[in-house]
Amino acid sequence: MTKTENQTNRAVFTTRLGAIATTVGSAVGLGNIWRFPYEAGTHGGGAFMLFYVVFIFLIGVPVLCSEFILGRSTRSNVFGALRKLAPAGKWHLVGYLGILSSLMILSFYSVIAGWTMEYCFQSAAGALDFASESEYHAHFDSFSSGNWRPVMWTVIFLLCNLLIVVRGVTKGIEKASNILTPLLFLMLLVFCVNSLMMPKAAEGLQFLFKPDFSKIDSGVILGALGQAFFTLSLGLGCMLTYGSYFNDRTRIGRSAMMTATLDTAVAILAGIIIFPAVFSFGMSPEAGPTLVFEVLPAIFHQLPGGVLWSAFFFFLLFLASLTSTISMSETNISFFVEECQMSRRKATFVSTSIVMFFGILCTLSFGCMSDVTIMGKTVFGLFDYATSNIFLPVGGFVFSIFVGWFLERRYLKTQMTNFGTVRFKPLPLLVFCLRYVCPVAILLVFLNSIGVI
Ligand code: TRP
Repeated sequence: MTKTENQTNRAVFTTRLGAIATTVGSAVGLGNIWRFPYEAGTHGGGAFMLFYVVFIFLIGVPVLCSEFILGRSTRSNVFGALRKLAPAGKWHLVGYLGILSSLMILSFYSVIAGWTMEYCFQSAAGALDFASESEYHAHFDSFSSGNWRPVMWTVIFLLCNLLIVVRGVTKGIEKASNILTPLLFLMLLVFCVNSLMMPKAAEGLQFLFKPDFSKIDSGVILGALGQAFFTLSLGLGCMLTYGSYFNDRTRIGRSAMMTATLDTAVAILAGIIIFPAVFSFGMSPEAGPTLVFEVLPAIFHQLPGGVLWSAFFFFLLFLASLTSTISMSETNISFFVEECQMSRRKATFVSTSIVMFFGILCTLSFGCMSDVTIMGKTVFGLFDYATSNIFLPVGGFVFSIFVGWFLERRYLKTQMTNFGTVRFKPLPLLVFCLRYVCPVAILLVFLNSIGVI
């Protein structure tokens, strides 16, 4: 990514592709390929899918626009943006929740990113060669429940992330991801065709796309809302921070729509790859966080040249995770630098140390700490659940109310039309969604999940 310094000494993306590639890089990651299939699998497939897609476009896209507007118009981090626009209000307090969420998500995200690194190496070494699906399960189980190797990978992954973000500009990785993200997409397409030819493909597709209305309950709806926020990197100010690097010609509405569409396409492809295989191999879709690590290697095993496919795929997944963790780190680092007056270097070390500590606890949730539970969840489970299903939607709720009700409509218009230089027809629709649809829908989902309705 080419960023240059503008008058205020803040970086700006210089190209349009730059802005899109970075936001897509943030959005596309483990959320699409690891989290989406496991959430859909444990929440009844089609029923979950229905709510997920509706939430992406009805809530996700407007909230994404609101984050871009807040970021670009103030050129600040999440905390600074809200304080600049409402100096007397308490709105900026939601920034603390955002920083907390970004540290918590980074902690559990690094565990899974570490798993992808291990599986990349294991594939390349030919260690993932088993005859039956149950062996894939047993193999993954013994790796993830061991203590040392997963912890080592979590730490290595965080160090990779640190090395990139400490230098501030993310040129190398962004350039690489501009090529590799499309490549990941192509690979997914190939695997998709392969899965569609499996004996029980129809059953898998039916599970994913045919809503079984009897399965809809408050957990399904809340899970879909959380997944929509998680996968679009919404609710904690991450997209706000990236928006603050947009230049004045970046079209916010288009960027938001494009990010949401590409991100959803990747998730759906992942679903089409996983579920036909799950049913054909006689596995259970409800395996939870370990699902894709048991199914994917078994799929690759059947392909000619499976070792290479597998190693390359896990490598791409590792890179996709890295572009996502960079965006999350950027959120809290820009906060530490701009609000706590730390140097970038110090901020990066502070952030990495906190995340490493909690990341190790999350890793051990699959090993020696699997019995340590809080409210029935392991540390990993709790971090995942609390951030996605509660903190991010709360953040989105505040952003939509702030932009919809507190800012003047003219302010939104200026941003959506790039200071009147381009047209943005759906402005009334955007305002309507931000004022009514998003806050009301999020509130209803919350009330529903605590049993009020
Ligand atoms: N969206 C990313 C994914 O799907 C993860 C992510 C990056 C994220 N930045 C975020 C999630 C900010 C929530 C908030 O993998």
